[in-house]
Amino acid sequence: MVSCYSFENSNSMTKPRTSYICQSCGYAVSKWMGKCPDCGAWNSIAEEPVRSSGSSDRPGAGISGSSAATAFHEVSSQEHVRFSSGLLEFDRVLGGGIVPGSLVLLGGDPGIGKSTLLLQAAELMQRDGKRLLYVSGEESEKQIKMRGDRLGIRPSHLFLLTETCLERILETIDAVQPAVIILDSVQTVFSEKLGSAPGSISQVREVATQFLLLSKQRSISAFLIGHITKDGALAGPKSLEHIVDTVLYFEGERYHSHRIVRTVKNRFGAANELGVFEMTNEGLIPVDNPSKLFLAERPAGAAGSVVIGCVEGSRPILVELQALVSGTNYASPRRMAAGVDPNRVSLLLAMLDKRLGLHLGGSDVYVNVAGGLTVDEPAADLGIVASIVSSYRNRAIAPDRVIFGEVGLTGEVRSTSQTPLRIREAASMGFKQCILPHNSLPKPEHQPDIELIPVRSVQESMEVLFD
Ligand code: TYD
Ligand code: MG
Repeated sequence: MVSCYSFENSNSMTKPRTSYICQSCGYAVSKWMGKCPDCGAWNSIAEEPVRSSGSSDRPGAGISGSSAATAFHEVSSQEHVRFSSGLLEFDRVLGGGIVPGSLVLLGGDPGIGKSTLLLQAAELMQRDGKRLLYVSGEESEKQIKMRGDRLGIRPSHLFLLTETCLERILETIDAVQPAVIILDSVQTVFSEKLGSAPGSISQVREVATQFLLLSKQRSISAFLIGHITKDGALAGPKSLEHIVDTVLYFEGERYHSHRIVRTVKNRFGAANELGVFEMTNEGLIPVDNPSKLFLAERPAGAAGSVVIGCVEGSRPILVELQALVSGTNYASPRRMAAGVDPNRVSLLLAMLDKRLGLHLGGSDVYVNVAGGLTVDEPAADLGIVASIVSSYRNRAIAPDRVIFGEVGLTGEVRSTSQTPLRIREAASMGFKQCILPHNSLPKPEHQPDIELIPVRSVQESMEVLFD
């Protein structure tokens, strides 16, 4: 891929040179085009001035600050002692706390709670005597203070800065010497050296790169807040994800009172980890029992509703899956899935048609995960099938049953990972029966207080559920 830096030739320049860069993938082309030849996005190419100096012109640039190689055994891993953000759920998505010198990107829709979460964490961290710098390019110091007052926080080691110029932010960091920096948001900050508009892909990348160098060289933990564009991508999306150590996204909708933060990438821990918060008048409160939250409004004894046992990262969560099968008014029936993969639903419908003789060609099928959670693990398959069959036959599934298992194309039920975790969660939430893949049945001595019903095929599980 051609990068904008390859056009560099400062000596021969008479007028500022420009190049055309796709704002969605960073691809550079020599003239304007309506469609990016690399990622295929329309209208994403913008003219940007070519910078005249290298991106790493700060003294001592380079992640470790030295250019000599070090023997593996001489590198101390002591630096990776984590400290807590003060919010357990936030620590969980970070892989067990904040690693000094890590660079974290927190993305999400506008108004979902990014600033609130980091301001709360900042306040809790400074209670341990850590110096923090909160840089905002969006809100004035007064606005941040007002939010802080609303959250009831009185920090003394927390410094606020309203600034959008990267060079001046770096100067302030030199002066304040914080242990943690929060940048709200990466899209509002610009480097004077680049000349292109804030939020453009080269600016966003430059800001992230400078923060990367800074965090690695001085062991400062940095949090970058990133906005998500309308189509669900961070502006300058993939180009930031590979620069930073950890990528966290706010998931779900802001119309729910709970907020889900998911780890998309983590160099210091497991990806796919999940943190659940509830947005209240006092800010975000960690939810330590998400199963309870997601099952709170479950209609007892309704056809089409089923509880499935999922594992997100290292955490088991029980969620309610709902399906609605109704006669269609369209020439081609509608298929809609929220919270599960629509392709997976189509595939399972085809399997039901072929293996169970359940012909849904004349029915609309809607599948939804209650509570706005996204479940993309295959263990949800058996639950999807069960909810569809339950709605189609108008037969409710007993409310004290939990179900999970991957379903293959021949209708076989395949084993799932971390089965004991799922069973334990179901037992602790008071469920009486668990329908699970035969191959995942744990050894008898490990069985908790719940009846386990192993199944080998979809056919068999439907008999258990409905006969
Ligand atoms: P905010 O953190 O400003 O969102 P972002 O930085 O992601 O754009 O959150 C704003 C929303 O959160 C706003 O709609 C109001 C709500 N909110 C509360 O409900 N309670 C609170 O204590 C706070 C501070 C915000
Ligand atoms: Mg904000």
